[in-house]
Amino acid sequence: MSHYDPDKDASSPPHPTNSLLTGKSVGQNPVQAQCQSEHDREIPEVDLLSPLTIRGVTFSNRIAMSPMCMYSAQDGFANDFHLVHLGSRAIGGVALVVVEATAVTAEGRISPADMGIWKDEHIEPLARIANFVETQGAVPGIQLAHAGRKASCDKPWKGGRSLKTAAEGGWPVIGPSPLPFDAEDPIPSLLSIEDIEHCIDAWEVATRRALAAGFKVIELHAAHGYLMHEFLSPISNQRTDDYGGSLENRMRLLLRVAGRLREIIPRELPFFVRISATDWTEGGWDIEQSIVLCRELKVRGVDLIDVSSGGATPDAKIPVSRGYQIPLARRIREEARIRTGGLGLITDPQHADEIITSGQADLVFIGRELLREPYWAIKAQHFMGEEPAWPTQYGYAVKRRAR
Ligand SMILES: Cc1cc2nc3c(=O)[nH]c(=O)nc-3n(C[C@H](O)[C@H](O)[C@H](O)COP(=O)(O)O)c2cc1C
Repeated sequence: MSHYDPDKDASSPPHPTNSLLTGKSVGQNPVQAQCQSEHDREIPEVDLLSPLTIRGVTFSNRIAMSPMCMYSAQDGFANDFHLVHLGSRAIGGVALVVVEATAVTAEGRISPADMGIWKDEHIEPLARIANFVETQGAVPGIQLAHAGRKASCDKPWKGGRSLKTAAEGGWPVIGPSPLPFDAEDPIPSLLSIEDIEHCIDAWEVATRRALAAGFKVIELHAAHGYLMHEFLSPISNQRTDDYGGSLENRMRLLLRVAGRLREIIPRELPFFVRISATDWTEGGWDIEQSIVLCRELKVRGVDLIDVSSGGATPDAKIPVSRGYQIPLARRIREEARIRTGGLGLITDPQHADEIITSGQADLVFIGRELLREPYWAIKAQHFMGEEPAWPTQYGYAVKRRAR
């Protein structure tokens, strides 16, 4: 099969290079713009450092900071820790900073310390982050989430156990069916049709708040065994109504939410969905179903699938190794003909570059390596023989030492 080329895809929405709102290209600082105009690498045509334009947003390279819960919010509010944590990766040269799973309802938090966006008051501290990230030439993105039956847990560094009572700081959890994630976990209460409608409304309002905060990429979290994935997977969804049973029914909630969000996300802004492409379990969600889902998401105006895996069951046999999820991203890219993000255990720039140059993904999402090394993207530029896109405040100084 020939490689999918999103730029030659007539079925994709048009990709204007300028923001319809401002008339300016979004997410570039002058230093990075200069580096791009001086691009003289000829082979291959697209590599890790090539810019990428989706709709009206230009990413200065193919490196994204993967969303990572920091379990450091109070009552859902972002604070100085989040600003410095996310801001330093923007200074460090990533093209896209995705704010961690941010709960669309208070009950949708994994832990009491999750970031949230269930009230208007959450907008202002998030806006500070989005604005700062953008001033550093990176695109600010946010992942919107609901943890479903995996909500109400303690912080991971305190053991991550289920908080089953209000006295422990927990709350009742919900899911598609009354099936616990693990034997020790709480039995979720089944979402009624009315609850589902409220849930869709909550995603919509949260998205409006994220846009008001200035985020330029909205990512819908439909992976890792959380609520949207719970509806997709037969492991957690044993409903007999319109939201369970057939693949069409199990996809219904996610497709409805995605369709609703695309209606309110401005046409010039990208919309991503993170999925678990397989449950790595016999009888669970798998890559074939994912391909069908991604075709449908594309029809609803989703621009990129951020391809993760697992999380639906503690019994999964996950073949964790270097690049183990990349073939899933490649298959979705080729067979659903939609842009993908590749991720998982990417630690060295050469590996990241190979994923892009071989056409397996359009972006790489780096998680833990960016916790170890906030300047990973700048180092990748150096490694690839490019002039690193230092922030203006650092550039003249660090270059002077090199002379
Ligand atoms: C501390 C931590 C928190 C995470 N939180 C999220 C999250 O909020 N949303 C999400 O989709 N994935 C989350 N992940 C998964 C990462 O985004 C990433 O996909 C995963 O760590 C694999 O990439 P890596 O090997 O580069 O770390 C988290 C991972 C870590 C290590």
